[in-house]
Amino acid sequence: MNKSLDFHLQNSTYAIFHSNDSRYQDLSLNMLYEELNAASLNDVIEDCDDTETPYGTCISPWDAANCLLDTARTVKFVRGLAAAIRKKRKKQSGKKVSILYAGCGPFATLALPVTALFNPNQIGFTVLDIHEASIKNAQRIVEIMNISAYFDDFVCQNALDYPSANQDKKFDIIITETMTAGLLNEPQAAITTALSDMLEPDGIFVPEQIIIGVKLKAEKILNQPAIPLGTIFLLTKDTKPDKYIPLLKANTKTPPTAEDGLEYGIMLTTQIKIFGPHILQEGESAITMHVPIKKTYKKEDGSQIRIAYPLGGGINEVRVKAF
Ligand SMILES: C[S@@+](CC[C@H](N)C(=O)[O-])C[C@H]1O[C@@H](n2cnc3c(N)ncnc32)[C@H](O)[C@@H]1O
Repeated sequence: MNKSLDFHLQNSTYAIFHSNDSRYQDLSLNMLYEELNAASLNDVIEDCDDTETPYGTCISPWDAANCLLDTARTVKFVRGLAAAIRKKRKKQSGKKVSILYAGCGPFATLALPVTALFNPNQIGFTVLDIHEASIKNAQRIVEIMNISAYFDDFVCQNALDYPSANQDKKFDIIITETMTAGLLNEPQAAITTALSDMLEPDGIFVPEQIIIGVKLKAEKILNQPAIPLGTIFLLTKDTKPDKYIPLLKANTKTPPTAEDGLEYGIMLTTQIKIFGPHILQEGESAITMHVPIKKTYKKEDGSQIRIAYPLGGGINEVRVKAF
């Protein structure tokens, strides 16, 4: 037991569940981050780089650790996970809720505060990451904190290979945060598609829904509200297109409110419905920032905008055409 780490986890848990003061949440998560770092296998973590896959980059343990500091993201994902567990517990009274946490990073960040709310006979985590350094470190943190009883398994594997290697396994809840804004760069879409068959019939996928939209933003004109062109992609556990949904293709129409002669930038928007009322809104976190994909669109270029890109691909792979 590490008393200081324990204290800062309790403090962060309080800030997450009982406060809406973002400065208090920031401060307590920063202090927890410092303590987690101090207790970590830093040589092992720093030695491990990103891993590239055809469906996106699996970010390095170091970068994954830093995700904790995106306060709005961490607070809302943890609240959403806790709400999903409560809902499951109500439905299956008495039965332990099994949770697969895919892409746990070196701290198993989203699981830690939740252990303060339940008993080990109520929830059991299987945590998984492609990076051995992350799995080793997460296991170490859990042991130091004396919360091993909440963890059923630590798995070092590509999440995309996990279902075929474990065909009889099912989970009540699956959680993954392996994304950046616009569902670019990281493999959230592929992981959601690959893992959703591992849910029990009434199982909950966290996040429940990721909504990608498009907006026009007038260049060089301050305070002009962006013009929404609509949703171009919805990722849920039921999204079942091509294998691992590699390509997003969509057409949008420019509404009449776009002004002739003005130059617009085109941006991707992201909203994440984590669970129930816990929603990460556009621009609230690094993973829901607007992503500019083309500058200098003019209405006379055409009223339809076509967008295509591989989910998990880089920004330079986004194709935008007006016609
Ligand atoms: C954005 S970080 C999130 C870290 C932590 N879960 C959090 O929420 O703070 C994503 C993590 O997912 C892991 N990951 C990404 N793609 C993966 C894959 N295909 N299989 C297993 N792990 C993956 C990365 O190694 C990284 O640790």
